[in-house]
Amino acid sequence: MATFTVQQNLELLGKYRYTEIQCMEIMGSWAYTMVDPEIKIGFGRGMFQDSVHADLIGKRIPELKGRSERYHSIPPSDEYVRLLEKIWMTQDELYRMVALYRVLKPALVVAYRRHLDHLELPADEPTAYILRHIADEEQDHIDWGEKIINRLAGESNRTEATASWRRELERELQTAGGAWGEGHKPGTHSFAKTHPHSKLPTRDIRWDIMQNPSEFTEKNWSFDNQEGKQHLLHDLLNSEFITVERMGRILSDCPDIPWQMKMDMARQAWDEARHAEIVQRRLEELGGHVGMFPTSCFGWEQDVNRKDPLERLALSNMTFESESCKHLRDWIAKAKKTGDTRSQQLVEFLLADEVNHVLYGIHWIDELTKDDPERRKRVLGYPEQVLADQHPVGVYFKETVNAEK
Ligand SMILES: [Fe+2]
Ligand SMILES: [Fe+2]
Repeated sequence: MATFTVQQNLELLGKYRYTEIQCMEIMGSWAYTMVDPEIKIGFGRGMFQDSVHADLIGKRIPELKGRSERYHSIPPSDEYVRLLEKIWMTQDELYRMVALYRVLKPALVVAYRRHLDHLELPADEPTAYILRHIADEEQDHIDWGEKIINRLAGESNRTEATASWRRELERELQTAGGAWGEGHKPGTHSFAKTHPHSKLPTRDIRWDIMQNPSEFTEKNWSFDNQEGKQHLLHDLLNSEFITVERMGRILSDCPDIPWQMKMDMARQAWDEARHAEIVQRRLEELGGHVGMFPTSCFGWEQDVNRKDPLERLALSNMTFESESCKHLRDWIAKAKKTGDTRSQQLVEFLLADEVNHVLYGIHWIDELTKDDPERRKRVLGYPEQVLADQHPVGVYFKETVNAEK
């Protein structure tokens, strides 16, 4: 069997990287409109792992003398790009999952495995090493997706519709030349993943999301008693989901941000997805459940609809998450004092991650505005502007912040 030359390798690696990044952006774009919480959590994890796959491939490309930008992301064919666009525009949750986990990712794994069969070894062992790792992880994603698809298809009695949607996409993928774009010239078509103005993220029916800020009443819940813990963890759970969703929106809304910033945003999406799992488990251990209290999504509308991603980071990472670090420290102290070592240990992990999220905000705002004082001023002034609005949560927030000063 003929083995791949350096040049053949390069042309394919750029195509894999393109698809990995597209998968990450598509999940990012979809997360806030998906109803199923398990999918949101899986997407948080998936965005990060796909960013790592793209990163590993992106490091191998220049090693193979592909230093020019054009090698780093190669759309396999125009038909392939149009198929991705069609998938991205799909609204139905089950059809989205089928497209991603029964068509697109399996095609990618087939391409990786075929590639591995054609490697010149040991000359190209570094490529073998990363592709094997990526293919295995993608297979795990497919297995996870398969479980969700079976559940959703069973619940809605749509096994047949699901199968015919899959066949339709597979035909189109084949016409597009698959993940390699076989028989086609690299694509020149591209599409932007735009979003309409968003008032609230989607939640499943268990949640009681306040539609009107006036419904909000702040109580001084404290982490030293059962009821206080339930309230605080329940609110935090919603915030964790929000943060998976808003990181996804930065990844899909802002494809031109620096690569390392995308890696940080994807990492944060994964952190928040794990936090949601941890917080929900602890809430349930303490006798609570999702939807036991009304919940506010204050800050969502003011975050994801901003064009400048740095304004979003100034508001949510530098302001809300830094405020949240203070709360978490208080919870840790109270959990310790009352002998709740389980909560203490978990919240210590949450806090460790949250500190990094605040630092992502500080770092990227500093880095990207160092030669643009006007943008910096606008970005750093944005949280004040939001909190100055007479939103009850905003007013409460300002009072607590000022009281602590
Ligand atoms: Fe978090
Ligand atoms: Fe966070």
